Amino acid sequence: MKDKIEIKKPQGKLGVMIPGLGAVATTFIAGVLLIRKGLGRPFGSLTQMGTIRLGKRTEKRVPKIKDFVELAELDDLVFTGWDIFPDNAYEAAVKAGVLRKEHLDPIKEELEKIKPLPAVFDNNYVKKLDGPNKKSGANKYELALQLMDDIKRFKEENSLDRLVMIWCASTEVFMKPDPVHQTVESLEKAMKENHPAIAPSMIYAYAAIKSGVPFINGAPNLTVDIPAMIELAKQHNVPIAGKDFKTGQTLMKTIIAPGLKARLLGLHGWFSTNILGNRDGEVLDDPESFKTKEESKLGSLEYILQPEVYPELYGKFYHKVRINYYPPRGDNKEGWDNIDIFGWLGYPMQIKIDFLCRDSILAAPIVLDLVLFMDLAQRAGFRGIQEWLSFYFKTPMCAPELYPEHDLFIQLMKLKNTLRYMKGEELITHLGLEYYD
Ligand SMILES: NC(=O)c1ccc[n+]([C@@H]2O[C@H](COP(=O)([O-])OP(=O)(O)OC[C@H]3O[C@@H](n4cnc5c(N)ncnc54)[C@H](O)[C@@H]3O)[C@@H](O)[C@H]2O)c1
Repeated sequence: MKDKIEIKKPQGKLGVMIPGLGAVATTFIAGVLLIRKGLGRPFGSLTQMGTIRLGKRTEKRVPKIKDFVELAELDDLVFTGWDIFPDNAYEAAVKAGVLRKEHLDPIKEELEKIKPLPAVFDNNYVKKLDGPNKKSGANKYELALQLMDDIKRFKEENSLDRLVMIWCASTEVFMKPDPVHQTVESLEKAMKENHPAIAPSMIYAYAAIKSGVPFINGAPNLTVDIPAMIELAKQHNVPIAGKDFKTGQTLMKTIIAPGLKARLLGLHGWFSTNILGNRDGEVLDDPESFKTKEESKLGSLEYILQPEVYPELYGKFYHKVRINYYPPRGDNKEGWDNIDIFGWLGYPMQIKIDFLCRDSILAAPIVLDLVLFMDLAQRAGFRGIQEWLSFYFKTPMCAPELYPEHDLFIQLMKLKNTLRYMKGEELITHLGLEYYD
């Protein structure tokens, strides 16, 4: 056993603050409420169902992750959110159309109590939506102060011990890093001057970090992936993570691509298309929001396949991603992949995937795990980018001198080794020669 890291105990209640009470957020909250009552199971959640091997295989020590590290209990979670629509969480869940009546009825009263706070919203950053439940303020800095008041009030009124904020709001238009994103001073100055390079998601993130609250970005927006926010997080000892939950098609991509590379099967092209009919699909129908998502979805293959290392296999592949808004499907997305590969002597082959998935059903356990792990990270004294949580993201944030790790299996190993490291257990290398001495 190595030295353990000092991890504060998860005493008291953990507040979960969610910008965007839409399909993902309400499916997550409703799921936690149902699981608490014994009316549902947390399938898909590593924190609730996953195990971790400790020591040698012969030791047969395989505890559940939640018994190994001190995570907040589901009973201790308290929820709130912000949205431009005034619908409470029950009404929003009904409109999102993900969960059936039989799942929403038993928790109706609890969901109805979750009413969205007025949002920080600007139509220039999400073009397809607008709603009445908004804050107004003299400038973007002033709006951040209002959010900080919301955070303080939520904590006090509910006697909470700790908080986590997770962005589940719409995807904003594509933005490139701007000089004002370089330092905390230039960021604050830009907020006071209403600079266009400050998107609403950045105002939430700024308010969270300044309040000492971990911030997670579930959308592909730039948000905290800029030097000023990373610096601010370090200054305030706050962990940050992002971006864009890895759910349907990209999850499949990061499962299959490492397998192709492992067997040195080449790739001519990968065409991915989706039909999706929820509000997220509607927002992504705007080319500027789609551009943000497209960049996020395109990155994974390049990094996994390493064309510069394997030019013959992956030097020239064609990668295309499409999202088509098709209302009849609602949240039940269908994603097709056509993968043109080649093998021995260059003979071509094809793989076809037709994934009839449910976007928010895949995203909800990710939200839960991220909330619990980010709270753990903060109690363990971790700050800044939490690369060990890359497992959950389409475009994992990482230090500027690194490239992001996209391979799902490496990401899982990294996550579990980080938990072992926190608890002073030996890291697992999978060498295993000692079994044959
Ligand atoms: N479901 C998935 O599989 C998945 C995967 C990766 C990322 N995401 C991202 O998660 C986010 C949520 O997805 P969803 O399906 O729940 O979408 P949704 O449209 O159902 O919910 C988003 C909500 O955010 C609100 N909103 C927009 N801007 C806001 C702001 N500035 N402040 C407060 N509220 C705001 C909208 O009114 C809406 O209710 C999207 O950005 C989506 O791209 C989802």
